[in-house]
Amino acid sequence: MQGAGRTFGERVALQPLHLEVGRGEVFGLLGPNGSGKTTTLRMLATLIHPTRGKAAVLSWDVVADAMQVRRSIGVMPEKPSLYERLTIEDNLRFWAEAHELAEPETAIREALEFVGLVERSRERVGQLSKGLKQRVALARAIVHRPPVLLLDEPSSGLDPSAAVAMEGMIRDLVRDGATVLMNTHRLAEAERLCDRVAILREGELLELGTPKQLRSRLLGNVVEVEFNGATDLPVQRAVESLPGVAEIRWSRGGLSCRLPDAARDTPELVARLVRAGAKVVSVRQAGDLERVYLELMARSIHPELEEAA
Ligand SMILES: Nc1ncnc2c1ncn2[C@@H]1O[C@H](COP(=O)(O)OP(=O)(O)OP(=O)(O)O)[C@@H](O)[C@H]1O
Ligand SMILES: [Mg+2]
Repeated sequence: MQGAGRTFGERVALQPLHLEVGRGEVFGLLGPNGSGKTTTLRMLATLIHPTRGKAAVLSWDVVADAMQVRRSIGVMPEKPSLYERLTIEDNLRFWAEAHELAEPETAIREALEFVGLVERSRERVGQLSKGLKQRVALARAIVHRPPVLLLDEPSSGLDPSAAVAMEGMIRDLVRDGATVLMNTHRLAEAERLCDRVAILREGELLELGTPKQLRSRLLGNVVEVEFNGATDLPVQRAVESLPGVAEIRWSRGGLSCRLPDAARDTPELVARLVRAGAKVVSVRQAGDLERVYLELMARSIHPELEEAA
């Protein structure tokens, strides 16, 4: 995206966005309802034009080279928009033909095998459960084996195990070389699946980075260590002597502290603890993507918090 933005009349759905997703990357767009995630995907899917700037998929411009873009992408739209009266396989056949595939039947079978729907391929889509419809939508998105996938909340409305299954399928597609740009409200899923995420709010990009980078940027390098046994004086000294360490909090069987740079300083912290005789059981950076997200939303509503932090 090279400054692509979109307005609908007076409403700014997406401010000019500069964003590059690398080949083979899984990129997540996060943000509250109405923050511009679907608008972004729809522009890349050539369904709406940007009203400002430019966007390209595999260096094809989404406006000038829309046909080439369409051939390169597989889209799971926000609403599955399948033909409810047709069977699963006829839905796929429709798309296979639209893409003028050389061997449509092979492509259909492979897509159905991939999503585990071979056995039900003769059933009408209208009578399927939500989760199964999502699988059909994924099969349709991949039937022409596109290198780029645009997935709008692929696991929305799925039960926890169906969501994990969807996550696994996305991971498999990436392993086979796909590049994925996806919207999601499931932050734990984004954390597991996405190499990088962008957090939008009211059409504006608030943060961009790996989940780890956002965590350390926003949650300030807080590390939690758990160990077996008592906290004796040598262990306490070992931690206190670490350059730059702050806000040390001891608890039964553990401690948390703020480091200047968790990625750089954690190994040294652990080494000192071990040398001092502590039996370290686990070490982790505090907070998850959900905490990052909530922190960011709180800050963008109350900017004074940002200055305080
Ligand atoms: N066709 C349209 N006409 C007018 N306004 C639109 C249109 N499409 C989107 N919008 C507006 O643009 C803004 C961004 O919408 P968008 O669908 O991109 O949000 P989203 O981040 O996908 O939200 P959600 O999480 O609810 O799916 C919203 O205020 C929405 O109402
Ligand atoms: Mg949306």
